[in-house]
Amino acid sequence: MDCPSIIDPATKERLPRIPVPNLLADALNETAAHYSKQWGDDTGYTKFIRNAPEAAKHTMARQLGWPDLFDRIRTEATIRDVSVYDAACGFGLIHRDLFATPTPDRLCYVGADIHEALESIENPFPKSRFVRFDVSDRLPTEDKFDFVVCRAALHHTPDPEHTLRNLASVLKLGGTLAVSVYTKKSPMRDASDDYLRSKITPMKPDDAFRLVRQFTSLGRDLQESSGQIVIKEDLPFLGIKAGRYPIQPFIYDHFLKCWFNSEFGEQWSDIVNFDWYHPPFAYRYTLQEAIAMNERCGLNILKTESNKAQHYIESIKPT
Ligand SMILES: C[S@@+](CC[C@H](N)C(=O)[O-])C[C@H]1O[C@@H](n2cnc3c(N)ncnc32)[C@H](O)[C@@H]1O
Repeated sequence: MDCPSIIDPATKERLPRIPVPNLLADALNETAAHYSKQWGDDTGYTKFIRNAPEAAKHTMARQLGWPDLFDRIRTEATIRDVSVYDAACGFGLIHRDLFATPTPDRLCYVGADIHEALESIENPFPKSRFVRFDVSDRLPTEDKFDFVVCRAALHHTPDPEHTLRNLASVLKLGGTLAVSVYTKKSPMRDASDDYLRSKITPMKPDDAFRLVRQFTSLGRDLQESSGQIVIKEDLPFLGIKAGRYPIQPFIYDHFLKCWFNSEFGEQWSDIVNFDWYHPPFAYRYTLQEAIAMNERCGLNILKTESNKAQHYIESIKPT
């Protein structure tokens, strides 16, 4: 089985294993600097989440359509050759799920990301490789993939629709593309996110990382505050439904992201707040907007699923 190969844009040579160098613009350098810190040894987060399956259930890994899709890919890869492009692969969580024991032996995988901690991803599988690459651009390959996935990352690229179009361009006809993108929230929450991000994104990663402890502490203290907020009628303009709310989720969902989870503790809750407030690009979508973007890229929608944080869109490239 021939796995998709990467072509070096400069020499036109086929590069089966070697990272593709890429010149990154300033904002992409900032994204790369952010995630190099977030996934690097400095924070230790990747080790924590790999070894804490209970905590991992609070991440996208076990949510929306992702687990089903990975089961399908793994099953197909036991009976036929299957290739996967994991765009903005992070620190390899999808790779780990796809290659979990029993390893599907007909699976080829390319993971691409711009952070500098790719080499620390454990990868004993000969048919899988990681490349340092800006996924906004079309992956330099003459081959096409059966599956293209981009989880929780399209919204971090400077022009998500441009990125999506390039992802779709390396998908086989009849192939499946799955993405998840941030949801739009209540108007107050979106406004506070925009304002706070405008102050935090220009900071150096270390400074922003220290600062986000304040969001963690606030989230922790609100969670420990007893009492309930009772809203007597739906307030549609404000995005608030009638009901009884504990204090922290009421503030969190409608006014201000201040994440805290006791399984993460302060140290790892900081990562979640850092991930929200510091990356330079963080677009948000209604489900209709996310669907329309996929359709404009020539994809037929197969399945959608949303939670408070993200929309999952699975599409097929029509034959
Ligand atoms: C929240 S993480 C999601 C990681 C992974 N997809 C997962 O679900 O575990 C977002 C990832 O997008 C990557 N990213 C953001 N912009 C990128 C770009 N232009 N090119 C490649 N990777 C990018 C970041 O480096 C980061 O690893």
